[in-house]
This record gives sequence, C-alpha cells and structure tokens, in this order.
Amino acid sequence: MTGAGTDWPLRRPRLRWTADGTPESLDFGDVFAARAGAVAEVCHVVLDGLGAPDVWRRPGPFVIGETGFGTGLNLLVCWDLWRRTAPPGARLHWVSVEAFPLSACEAARALARLPALADLAARLVRAWPPALPGLHARALDDRVTLTLALGDVRDALPALTGPVDAWVLDGFAPARNPAMWDAAVLAEVARLSRPGARLATYTAAGAVRRGLSDAGFRVARAPGFGGKRDCLRAVFEAGSSSVPATPHPNGPRIAVIGAGIAGCAVAAALRRRGAGDVVVVDARGHPRDSLPPALLGLLEPRLEKADSPAGRLHAAAASQAIALYDALAAAGLNPWRGPRGVLAADRGRRDDAWRRAVVDRLSWPPERLALLDAATAARTVGTAPPGATALWHPRGGALAPPALLPALLGDTAVMTAAVAAVTPRDDGGWRVCDATGAALLDADAVVLATASDTARLWPAAALPLRPTRGQVSLLRAAGPDAAPRVAVSSGAYATPAIPDGAGGWIRILGATQEPWRPGDPDPYAPRAGDDARIRANLAAVWPALADALASEPTVAALAGLRATTPDHLPLAGPLFDAATVAANQGDALRRTGRAPAPPPAVTGLFTVCGLGSHGLTMAPLVAEMVAAQITGTPWPVTADLGAALCPARFAVRALIRGRPVGA
Ligand SMILES: Cc1cc2nc3c(=O)[nH]c(=O)nc-3n(C[C@H](O)[C@H](O)[C@H](O)COP(=O)(O)OP(=O)(O)OC[C@H]3O[C@@H](n4cnc5c(N)ncnc54)[C@H](O)[C@@H]3O)c2cc1C
Ligand SMILES: C[S@@+](CC[C@H](N)C(=O)[O-])C[C@H]1O[C@@H](n2cnc3c(N)ncnc32)[C@H](O)[C@@H]1O
Repeated sequence: MTGAGTDWPLRRPRLRWTADGTPESLDFGDVFAARAGAVAEVCHVVLDGLGAPDVWRRPGPFVIGETGFGTGLNLLVCWDLWRRTAPPGARLHWVSVEAFPLSACEAARALARLPALADLAARLVRAWPPALPGLHARALDDRVTLTLALGDVRDALPALTGPVDAWVLDGFAPARNPAMWDAAVLAEVARLSRPGARLATYTAAGAVRRGLSDAGFRVARAPGFGGKRDCLRAVFEAGSSSVPATPHPNGPRIAVIGAGIAGCAVAAALRRRGAGDVVVVDARGHPRDSLPPALLGLLEPRLEKADSPAGRLHAAAASQAIALYDALAAAGLNPWRGPRGVLAADRGRRDDAWRRAVVDRLSWPPERLALLDAATAARTVGTAPPGATALWHPRGGALAPPALLPALLGDTAVMTAAVAAVTPRDDGGWRVCDATGAALLDADAVVLATASDTARLWPAAALPLRPTRGQVSLLRAAGPDAAPRVAVSSGAYATPAIPDGAGGWIRILGATQEPWRPGDPDPYAPRAGDDARIRANLAAVWPALADALASEPTVAALAGLRATTPDHLPLAGPLFDAATVAANQGDALRRTGRAPAPPPAVTGLFTVCGLGSHGLTMAPLVAEMVAAQITGTPWPVTADLGAALCPARFAVRALIRGRPVGA
C-alpha cells in the first residue's frame, strides 16, 4: 500500500476488547494501557518522568517524540497538562510512530472510558489520519501539531527530522516486542534528540537500560506505577547529536512575499508553528479584495501508475490539504463549494487498464479512492463517462480561493506593495525593497512565495521556473442537477454548479495551457478563442459531457499564470547561491554523482513556488515543510521527499552532468 509518502508496510491491529472497553493487542499479547488507573500511570511514568510541566515552561516549540502511538493516550495526557501550563507563545509538537494503526472508531472506543479527556479525545479522533503509510501532519488546535509516522519504527525513525526535546518509549514489553527496542532504534532516538533531551519509558528491562546507555543516555530507575517495580527515566548526554541546538537561528520576524495560495499557506503554517511576527506582502494586496469572487479550482489527488517520489508527494499533499480544508470548514470557514468528490474519466493514455492498475497498486481505502463502473459514474455525474470505468475521489472537490486564502491568513498583517528586491543586511537579517530601492520592511527571514517572479527576485539561484498561461471559462449553469453534478477531471475539468449569490448558478470549465514569455501579450487579459478551445478539448475526451455543457453559455473568462518546473514538483526550502554551490560541491558532484552534504543555503531566505497546476493540493504540505525548516520543528514529510522539493535540486543535477547551472 502506498499512501502519504512511502511504501512502508502497515498491518491492521488484531484487538481484543475487555468488558470495560480496554483494547488488548493479540499481535503482541500485551495491553495498550493499564486497565485501572491508565491516566494516573501516564502521569506518573511520562509526566513525572519527563519533569513536566517545568520542562516545557519556555517560549517556542517543544517536541515530544514517541514510539508506539496506539490510542494516543500518552499524547492526550501530555496535551491536557501542556495546555494548562505552557507559556502563551509556546507550541507542542507530538511526533509518533505506529505500524499497526487503529481506525478512528477503534481509537474513539478506547478513549471513551476516559471522560476527563473527552474534549481532547474528540479533537484527536476528528484529525485521525487514514491508515496510509508515511507521515501525516495534523493541527490538533492552533498550538498543537501531531506528526504521525505510520510505518514500522525501523523504517520511520530514520526518515524523521528532529530535534526532539523529550521522548516517550511505549512499544509493548521488550520481551514481547524486541524489535521496538533494538540498538538501531535507540541509535535513531539518539540521532533525533536535542542535547539534554529527557526520556521516559514504562519498562525497566536491563536490555533497554543498557541500550539507552550505549546510545548516549544517562539512565536511572524510578519506582513503577501500581504493582510494577520500576520504570526508567533518562537524559541524553552524548555530544553526538546531529541536530542543531538552537531552534530559531533567525529570530522571530518573517516576511512572506506573495499572498497566493503558497504565501497564505506559509503564513498559516508559520503561525501554527509559533513563528511569531509574520507579515505578508503582495503587489495586489489582500486576497479578500483582489481575487475574482467567482474563482473556483479543483483539488484532485494526482495519481501515478508506478511508485515514484512525485506520486508519493502528491498523495501526501492531497491528504494534508484535505485535512486542513476540512478543519477550516469545521471552524466555520468552509472553502469547499458544491457537492464533494472528483470524478476522473479519460479515454487517452489514462484508460481503463491504467485506472485499474493504479487502484490495485495504491489499495487506498474506498473513502479515499474508488474505481466506478460506467453506470455508477453516469449516475454520479449525470452523463455517461467516456470509458468503462472512472476514478472517484470522494474527498476531493471544488474550492473557492476567495474564501480559502483569507481563511488561511486569519489576522496576519498584509502589506500592499510590489517587491523589487530582497537584500541581506549586515546584521544577518533581510531588507525587502520596492522599485525605488526604499525599504518596505526588515525581517529576520524572508519566504519568496512569488510564483515565477521568484527567479527575478533571487537571480543568484538561476531557478528554472517557466510561466505557463491558462484561461478558464465561467459558465451560466443550468442548475444543480445539470451534468456534471460533481467536479470532473479528464484533461479538461469542470466544477459542479455553484450558487452565484443572485439566485442563479455558475460553474468553471477549464483550462488552457501554453508557455508565456516576458514581452508576450498581457497574460491576464482573456483571449477570444480560448473558450472554443476549452470546449473542443473536452469534446475530444468526453463528447457526452461537452454536448451537455453546450447549452450553458460562457459569461466570462478568467486568466492567469502558473509557475512550472522541469520535473513538475514545487520548489520548497532554503534558497541558495548557484555559484557558491558550484564552488563548494561542483567537483565532488561531477566526480561522485552525489552531493557530499546538503547544498549550502543562504541563511534566512526560503521559497515556496513552482506549484504548477496543483497549487490547491500542494501548497499546505510544502508550506508546512518550509515553516518546519524556519522554526526548527519536525518536517511533515520524510527526509527523501523533503530532498525532492529542495530548490537547489536542478543546480545539483546540472553540476553532476558537468553543465553550468541555469543553462
Ligand atoms: C487557468 C488556471 C486554472 C487553474 N486551475 C487550478 C485548479 O483547478 N486547481 C489547482 O490546484 N490549481 C489550479 N491552477 C494553478 C494555481 O492557480 C497555482 O498552482 C497557484 O496559483 C500557485 O499559487 P502561488 O501562490 O504559488 O502563486 P500565485 O497564485 O501566482 O500567487 C503569487 C502571488 O505573489 C504576488 N507577487 C508576485 N511577485 C510579487 C512581487 N514582486 N511583489 C509582491 N507580490 C508579488 C502576486 O501578486 C500573487 O498574489 C490554475 C491556474 C490557472 C492559470
Ligand atoms: C503499548 S502500545 C502504545 C500505547 C500508546 N502509547 C497509547 O497511548 O495508547 C505499543 C504500540 O506500539 C505499536 N508497535 C508495535 N511494534 C511496532 C513497530 N515495530 N513499529 C511501530 N509501532 C509498533 C503497537 O501497534 C502499539 O500501538
């Protein structure tokens, strides 16, 4: 099963439920938590063991790592104390690993016996990730983030990034589950630990004591809870930690240039990760005022027939975006429009055999992806699909950027200004300037979320961004029952009919795609003839739907630019100076074909751009990634997928081939 970023094997847990609703593992013959006094045991072993709440009484992020997420009980007990005792600017990150994930229903059932934690348990269950392997980052509230790695601890820990401030090791008794405690696992725990990191565990087995000691922890026994004799408490003392000791190398003021979906998602992620003072700057001003009210876009997970980093990133991004947008909807800021679901039907390269192969390979649960026969697809859309089958994404759908972008921004300050340059200051910070050279603002870090303009604002990186023009037609729709009744994608795409606010119905039909170069006619001015091309494209792949839409007149057109990259993946991460990368790593790259270390980055300058045709799907995940890098908190993707997003990857590839960067 390939899910949110990996192909790690996952297994369904085999559970037995006791009369009082406590789950026991049949796989390991052990209990998830004590039957009596479960919360008191966590308080004793984990909270007292870590020295809570004093250990987290400091501003900034506090990261707790856990092996064995189970029902999430350790998280709930820590979160409950943390929210009552942490200082106002603090953030809690819970990073956990689980190879036998419970379903949301099973977790709800297990947690129901703990009424004192009912409100937090309900929030956790609402955010519960699907049982897909890989990392799932979820905001549990404005200040608490869960990053759950679904996979075996031996696969997952090496793919995580730290630094971790405290650990809870909870992987069943070592005698019943030695794999969870072996030397390689404990070495990974040490690799991820900040110097001085605390550790608490329910076991006091000699092998674990020795293993932790060998990994660099100073270990002490403490009295166990209830009938148990001992538990362990430890502090990471070794100087071998590979993680930096300072989480905020750049201080708190961050300028995000660009208030498109990328910039707005970065602002939201930075706020949630506690980055302090965030200012967004956009030439067009606040998206609440600048976006066409009728603008709609689709969120449709992009699928690949064969496993690839791109396919994994798209899967992880779609899962993250859907969770974020659903959370906005639950908070009364619904960005979705029309009935949920996207039906993908095509008769070109992506034919019935292709669809069947993709569904078989991914084995996603039916609430994420289903293969529909033609009759079911026809009932769903309101007209027959072009092939014998269609793909159904029940959680995708049409989104309204004019609602979504302001919801992500919240009360983040937005400055209206065209940025002409970002320049390093002598004191290590950055100056953001307009075309006259005047300072617009100073910041400790800058994120360029400026689509293709990023290449102009930071030419030293020679970023291969290509502007691609696109136009969509706005149709006066016949009504909610007219086909398509749900969003459809078939090369061309159409939204369901959406109320226009004046008693009528509209829909978007898209989209054209063609390269655009500086000097070409205004890309934002609608072009006559594009509507006919869009309709002809649809007729070529789905004639019945094109016929159905022939009676819906085009009343307006919307045009814009996409920023695309040669490998169709975004650029997200620290920016760099291509000449410095060539000078430092050029020889090694040419000789060995591999980077000796991460390419040298320009301190405090980041980008999220190159989102191509998938900004609504990709932005939340890649924005979260950059916010994690800026705040020094755990990444929402595995290290290999983070590398696949690295803005320097094209420079590195050019140097490996002995070519000049940017040629
Ligand atoms: C016709 C069309 C249809 C599309 N349909 C879909 C769809 O259905 N689903 C989907 O997911 N995606 C769709 N896309 C793609 C989507 O629009 C992009 O992926 C998305 O807009 C990228 O977001 P962004 O924030 O990176 O860039 P942008 O949306 O371009 O935002 C960049 C922002 O930066 C600002 N800016 C740039 N330079 C400067 C500067 N120097 N100073 C100050 N501000 C600056 C701009 O004013 C702008 O607000 C479509 C695109 C087009 C053109
Ligand atoms: C004691 S339970 C954890 C209880 C949990 N902390 C809670 O609060 O409910 C141990 C967990 O480790 C998981 N586990 C066992 N072996 C694993 C492995 N090799 N990799 C990842 N998780 C594993 C089990 O599925 C189980 O959920």
